[in-house]
Amino acid sequence: MKKIILFADTGIDDSIALTYALKNPEVDLIGVVSGYGNIDREKAYRNVEYLLELADRTDIPVIAGATRPLSGEEPVFFPEIHGIEGLGPINPPIPEERYANRTNFSKLFHLIKNNGNEVTIVNVGRCTSLAIAHYLSPEVMEDVKETYLMGGAFMEPGNATEVAEANFFGDPIAANYVCQNVANLTIVPLDVTRDALLTPQVVNLIDTRSDSPLEEIIKPILDFYYEYYQQQNPGILGTPQHDLAALMAALDIDGLYEYKKREVKVEYKGKFTDGESIADFRPGASNCFGPKCTRIALKINQNVFVSNVLEILTNHR
Ligand code: BDR
Ligand code: CA
Repeated sequence: MKKIILFADTGIDDSIALTYALKNPEVDLIGVVSGYGNIDREKAYRNVEYLLELADRTDIPVIAGATRPLSGEEPVFFPEIHGIEGLGPINPPIPEERYANRTNFSKLFHLIKNNGNEVTIVNVGRCTSLAIAHYLSPEVMEDVKETYLMGGAFMEPGNATEVAEANFFGDPIAANYVCQNVANLTIVPLDVTRDALLTPQVVNLIDTRSDSPLEEIIKPILDFYYEYYQQQNPGILGTPQHDLAALMAALDIDGLYEYKKREVKVEYKGKFTDGESIADFRPGASNCFGPKCTRIALKINQNVFVSNVLEILTNHR
């Protein structure tokens, strides 16, 4: 069982990753840091509270993450993809009193300190909160065992711009800091998460087997997400589960990914290329060694992905 802290910008695919984490017996979710990204920080925080309430897991601490990128610029949100509230058609109630008492980074550092060297971080939103945690308390963050990121696009085009994926584009300074400074790092980029597809047929199957309030949100939010994807990419047969794909990498599922190791940089001073992820994949380049070396997932086995997701999301845990 892995002790995981999820850093998310809790929109639709983040919520599916959170649901999977709550339902997977291999995951001990010890905290969630929820910041701006798909939506603003307040909504992202509220959505985690709402999902934990549905799951009857309000014992899991939620930490308020960053509100804007390190550049200080205003963030751009994506209601057309994730809905106004970040959960597609769902309008979650606002637990005012929990807002007032929300926890901050000192809780995050306690969680890491109290769990020895056993914590895995999975970051599926902008890298801002994670970079800030490293800036604020490098001596505590050194104890994190391993870190996984959903972000970047190496061989394929981006989704936010021609060259940049949304998490890296949203805060390229933070993304570059994390890629250059965080040890034991694995990146799960758009190159593979684009293929981590759940078709409407699989979603319907999950829905027919759902028997809890948390499971019941899966179909409405994924139907909403599917409608957007169909408008943008009529040829694609399902919705890409970017964030779930990154979480699953942390679970070492047999045969799910193939990796290469490279040093990764993220452009943040470009004229046209902010957020572009850069690694050396020229012919002749080989796996790197040393502290700046990052593992990058470059191939996904879609059958392994779908069968594992079906197994976990339809178990009656
Ligand atoms: C990533 O950007 C966010 O919008 C999604 O939740 C995902 O983490 C995909 O590029
Ligand atoms: Ca996300």
